[in-house]
Amino acid sequence: MLSSVRRFTSKSSSKLAYRSFATLDASIPNRIHGGLQDKDRIFQNLYLKNSKKHGTQPWDLKTAEKIGDWYKTKEILLKGDKWIIDEIKKSGLRGRGGAGFPSGLKWSFMNPPNWEKNVGPRYVAVNADEGEPGTCKDREIIRKEPHKLIEGCLVAGRAMNATAAYIYIRGEFYNETVILQNAIDEAYKFGKLGKNACGSGYDFDVYIHRGMGAYVCGEETALIESMEGKAGKPRMKPPFPAGVGLFGRPTTVTNVETVAVAPTILRRGGDWFNSFGAERNSGTKLFCVSGHVNEPCTFEEEMSVPLKDILEKHCGGVKGGWDNLLAVIPGGSSTPILNAETCQDQIMDFDSLRNVGSGLGTAAVIVMNKQADVIRGIQRLLAFYKHESCGQCTPCREGSTYLSKMMDRLAVGQANEKEIDQALELTYKVCGHSICAMGEAFSWPYQGLVKNFKPLMIERINEYKLQNGLVNGGLNNGGWYENSSIKNGIVIDNPIPKEAFHGH
Ligand SMILES: Cc1cc2nc3c(=O)[nH]c(=O)nc-3n(C[C@H](O)[C@H](O)[C@H](O)COP(=O)(O)O)c2cc1C
Ligand code: SF4
Repeated sequence: MLSSVRRFTSKSSSKLAYRSFATLDASIPNRIHGGLQDKDRIFQNLYLKNSKKHGTQPWDLKTAEKIGDWYKTKEILLKGDKWIIDEIKKSGLRGRGGAGFPSGLKWSFMNPPNWEKNVGPRYVAVNADEGEPGTCKDREIIRKEPHKLIEGCLVAGRAMNATAAYIYIRGEFYNETVILQNAIDEAYKFGKLGKNACGSGYDFDVYIHRGMGAYVCGEETALIESMEGKAGKPRMKPPFPAGVGLFGRPTTVTNVETVAVAPTILRRGGDWFNSFGAERNSGTKLFCVSGHVNEPCTFEEEMSVPLKDILEKHCGGVKGGWDNLLAVIPGGSSTPILNAETCQDQIMDFDSLRNVGSGLGTAAVIVMNKQADVIRGIQRLLAFYKHESCGQCTPCREGSTYLSKMMDRLAVGQANEKEIDQALELTYKVCGHSICAMGEAFSWPYQGLVKNFKPLMIERINEYKLQNGLVNGGLNNGGWYENSSIKNGIVIDNPIPKEAFHGH
């Protein structure tokens, strides 16, 4: 409404534009974002261009220095914790691990008044678990630019007055671990880490801890438990890790990308980073695109770039053309799916995606064209989440199991229409009632499916009825497999029907 708008100056161009007062609309960009230039890319060796040019290995210190890493790190460290945190706050950086919490604020929780009196070690725990299906950005940083991460550990550590960083890397990343360890060894050798790091008078160590491949260990408190040598089961909060974390000491768990971009932000200034993207969604971002595009890839772009530009300009277009697009999961498998109509004008940032009932998550974009079976796709994801639930809380353990079994049947149409809403109701009961966000992680994909593809789900059920001569219902035994039996009042499930995996 015109009466509710005011004029303001775009932060990234001098053009006058209109923006609503309402916070919900505040993320609507006042210019088209995207088209990031090479000079503004933080990750300069993502395609190994620079290491090839200089005849070096990506993990060599020489490569890192050629692309600007470790430049004036000592000066940054000497500016102190408050300066670093203020600069990160100014940059507007929001955590790249999925939740998008403002990083400067999060890091400041490590330095409450009189923090010095709590004598002892303090930790940065870098989350390199990267378990969210579709996500493949952190491993690219570790493979191609590991020194960015190591330097990031040092400056983030200085900001939080930490004594050491532990990089928790998923077990499957064996080659990445070797690369990272080589880079860490070299950083120690040249005095970047260890006692008097970079000649700053600040002592700081970096260690790698390998995980064992459980998705839930990417959750910050499960990650801490796992590093302590226990089963990776999330802790109740409070206390939050900044108060009681790894080995009972103040700890901040933060994502690889969040840490790796920090040194460049500090060198080029918070305002520089903040000049990209829409308001409150600033910076550049790694996007990783998979599925039905001609050229799946990981690349850096300006935040708030249109989804269509991502697919058309960076990924060679949707297979079969834009009109052949069926759906997109915009931020890793747990974020609700978008239908093709929404994708048309969708902006890729935290607030714009939240406004359409989804999320930016890890910016892992999974594309499905009309040749994909979207119900089958969500069924596969729910089987994953069921498998990965740590089982501590009943809503997550039982809910993910129920939903996964129900989707096994639904994928072939072997369900009752009313079950669609029953399962939806179940997901609403789960959200907000579990120890960690895994409850939401498996609920959202189903909620997105129903919101956008309910008619397709009903069609599948009706097809199955027709094929099996069950036009007037009488199907499904009320929520378990058709050929289940009851023994002593207990339902005995027979194995998942074969068609659930091969039929579509
Ligand atoms: C089940 C589950 C798995 C997660 N996996 C990851 C992961 O693999 N990597 C990651 O950075 N964050 C993951 N997170 C989010 C972390 O708990 C945490 O919010 C994040 O590492 C914080 O980093 P940031 O502040 O830099 O975003 C996961 C969360 C949940 C609930
Ligand atoms: S929500 Fe699920 S994964 Fe998280 S603690 Fe509870 S049972 Fe474990």
